[in-house]
Amino acid sequence: TDEPLILGIETSCDETGIGVVRGHTLLADAVASSVEEHARFGGVVPEVASRAHLEAMVPTLERACETAGIQLRDVDAIAVTSGPGLAGALMVGVAAAKALAVGLGKPIYGVNHLAAHVAVDQLEHGPLPEPCLALLVSGGHSSLLRVTDVTTGVDPLGATIDDAAGEAFDKVARLLGLPFPGGPHIDRAARDGDSVYVDFPRGLTSRKDLERHRFDFSFSGLKTAVARWVEARERSGEPVPVNDVAASFQEAVCDVLTRKAIDAAVTEGIEDILIGGGVAANSRLRAMAEERAAARGIRVRVPRPGLCTDNGAMVAALGSEMVRRGRTPSALDLPADSSLPV
Ligand code: KG4
Ligand code: ZN
Repeated sequence: TDEPLILGIETSCDETGIGVVRGHTLLADAVASSVEEHARFGGVVPEVASRAHLEAMVPTLERACETAGIQLRDVDAIAVTSGPGLAGALMVGVAAAKALAVGLGKPIYGVNHLAAHVAVDQLEHGPLPEPCLALLVSGGHSSLLRVTDVTTGVDPLGATIDDAAGEAFDKVARLLGLPFPGGPHIDRAARDGDSVYVDFPRGLTSRKDLERHRFDFSFSGLKTAVARWVEARERSGEPVPVNDVAASFQEAVCDVLTRKAIDAAVTEGIEDILIGGGVAANSRLRAMAEERAAARGIRVRVPRPGLCTDNGAMVAALGSEMVRRGRTPSALDLPADSSLPV
């Protein structure tokens, strides 16, 4: 085809991702993760992540080109996550992207990581419905976005005021003695648990909180409530019912996420909700969102788990839209901006 060939580079957190996309077609998605190096610290260590990106960059790039069956000189444009994310980690990706852009004489597009989590869905389900409401939930962010144009018009409606949803999963998993990252382990444990065993708090859902934080989230109170409950149970000498606590915690998180996402969509008159980020892999979140949205005549799109977690394909997907929609490329002094707003 004559659609442009886009290489995407993602290094905002602990995944070195290189994706190759032509139009809406995914040709390669190579990811190297340093998650195991962070596991013993219970969270991502920025310095460790930066060094891992430096080591993984070229091998991952070679793997992506090989899978896609392309040579670097075939690439029409380079897209790279310029933020938000860990500063040192972003710099590795941005520097690599600039080197490629200069070496190949091709344009570079700095893209927003959150918008890329939205754009990736078109690789799986075709053209994005615009406007759509995006619920982005990962270890680093939890946001509700109104997307009118994924390349220029992404407006935040709300976000977490403390922990990200994935962070809450990881911290509660730790309390329950489950490995890092905890989300998938809680998901699995919850399948054999009773989701109404403990009635954990739903953050920012009281009438008073809704006045100021209608579309915001808070998960630190929930995490503390789980910690207190587990401590009390341990003090009593009785065993902690891990599956039931996992299920009750997960139910509280999913309840708030889906309730607020649907409220936002209804309020904005939007008929499509897109869920992205690592937590979108959660089986209960998917089921609950689909059930509740269907009752309101709203469609839900969730990319497959491999595209929900951080990867290079999402960056290439957004870069591809930038090119298709005639957006201006970035300058070669493109900075890495750890707190880049959408
Ligand atoms: O998008 P991602 O790979 O990286 C970040 O940008 O953070 O998301 C990772 C997060 C982790 O907190 C992990 O525990 C969570 O996504 N996660 C899940 C599930 N799979 C991954 N949380 C809940 N249920 C899951 N099945
Ligand atoms: Zn992410």
